[in-house]
Amino acid sequence: MTVTWKSWRNLWIYSLLCTTGVSGQLQLQPLNSTVLQGSDVGFTATVQGQWKVMTWNVGGFLVLTVVVPSNITSSSQYSATFCNSDDTSCVEFTIHNVSRKESGPVVCTVQGDYGSRTAQLNVEESGTVSIMGGNVTVEQDQHVEFMCITTAWFPIPAVSWAQNGQAVNSSLYNTTSMADGDSFTSTSVLRFQAVSNTTLECQAAVQTLRNPRTSSVFIAVVPKPPDWTVLIAVVVSVGGFALLVLLILGIIFCYRRRKEKQPSYQDEISRRVRRQSQGQGQVNTGYVPEGRTSAAPSQLTDSGFCQTNGSDIVEMPKVKSSHTGNDSNTVDQPGLRKHRHVTIV
Ligand SMILES: *[C@@H]1O[C@H](CO)[C@@H](O)[C@H](O)[C@H]1NC(C)=O
Ligand SMILES: *[C@@H]1O[C@H](CO)[C@@H](O)[C@H](O)[C@H]1NC(C)=O
Ligand SMILES: *[C@@H]1O[C@H](CO)[C@@H](O)[C@H](O)[C@H]1NC(C)=O
Ligand SMILES: *[C@@H]1O[C@H](CO)[C@@H](O)[C@H](O)[C@H]1NC(C)=O
Ligand SMILES: *[C@@H]1O[C@H](CO)[C@@H](O)[C@H](O)[C@H]1NC(C)=O
Ligand SMILES: *[C@@H]1O[C@H](CO)[C@@H](O)[C@H](O)[C@H]1NC(C)=O
Ligand SMILES: *[C@@H]1O[C@H](CO)[C@@H](O)[C@H](O)[C@H]1NC(C)=O
Repeated sequence: MTVTWKSWRNLWIYSLLCTTGVSGQLQLQPLNSTVLQGSDVGFTATVQGQWKVMTWNVGGFLVLTVVVPSNITSSSQYSATFCNSDDTSCVEFTIHNVSRKESGPVVCTVQGDYGSRTAQLNVEESGTVSIMGGNVTVEQDQHVEFMCITTAWFPIPAVSWAQNGQAVNSSLYNTTSMADGDSFTSTSVLRFQAVSNTTLECQAAVQTLRNPRTSSVFIAVVPKPPDWTVLIAVVVSVGGFALLVLLILGIIFCYRRRKEKQPSYQDEISRRVRRQSQGQGQVNTGYVPEGRTSAAPSQLTDSGFCQTNGSDIVEMPKVKSSHTGNDSNTVDQPGLRKHRHVTIV
């Protein structure tokens, strides 16, 4: 029983001494590092006291060894230097062009009773951003929908939209993401009403990306073409109204003319009556009443016909007499012949 207690106490003291001793002799900074793929990441190990060999493990593999005095094995991807050239107490370890493969624990071990320290390396990946469809031309007030696809990002990127450089209210878009191998693909859908020319930008970012990756399109907003049904309706109604107005004007015009003519007849009659009463002796033969123009010429022609008829009647007996074949009238023969022709015709 006493042996057990003693052994437990010794173990406790030993572990306490060991822990404080080690923690004081080897330190690693930083213990948690998040970087973007392709960048360089550094860790610093501080060792107190004399030491001979230091190793660095990344992703479970030994990648670098430091041997004191001053022999450092380095490769193109991993390197180490002493923080101060004549001081071995501080070593700076660098991973160049870091990739997602290097994500995970970075372990620094110093030979002897220094033990090891582990840091966490997180590598983020920025992929592509693309607004589908490219530049578009839309009608004013048209509801438009744009899709932004981000591929090969790790972790899931924050996707946002900007219109003419102004952030779009997140209630206007929806973003969904899904794993695609060891990275993520996101789809963001933005819906809005196109009012004026707009430069639309889709932005995707992860924590370590200083400037978000973007994709832009230009939305040219053109005025709405006229609504033909409305236009036709307007034209038809305006045309109909114009026709109606014309019709009414025409009716009024005709009515007025008729009304104006009737008094002129009466005036004429009264004038004639006045003239006749003024003096019967002064008969103007040239005067023909307007209203009776049709009647007067017919009378004249009638009289003309009468005259011609009369001459025919006078001459006819002569023709008839020639027809009888009397030789005594031979003196008048040329004249008779002429008359005969007329009768034949
Ligand atoms: C390390 O940092 C990342 C990103 O800042 C964080 O998500 C994670 O929880 C941290 N891990 C520890 C162990 O602190
Ligand atoms: C470093 O180690 C290599 C063998 O790993 C050896 O050839 C070289 O001479 C050493 N350099 C120094 C300065 O000790
Ligand atoms: C970084 O590593 C990637 C592969 O992981 C390689 O394609 C690229 O060329 C490297 N860049 C530099 C600058 O070495
Ligand atoms: C975003 O829109 C919602 C609802 O339309 C509104 O409540 C909120 O205040 C808006 N946020 C900003 C920053 O304008
Ligand atoms: C986003 O999704 C929610 C739920 O699915 C839906 O109610 C909302 O209308 C969507 N918003 C946009 C802009 O698509
Ligand atoms: C989209 O419009 C912008 C600005 O007008 C122009 O710079 C860009 O080349 C256009 N892109 C395509 C794919 O037409
Ligand atoms: C909108 O963009 C189109 C195409 O670039 C251009 O012709 C038009 O003038 C622009 N309209 C306004 C109001 O800027």
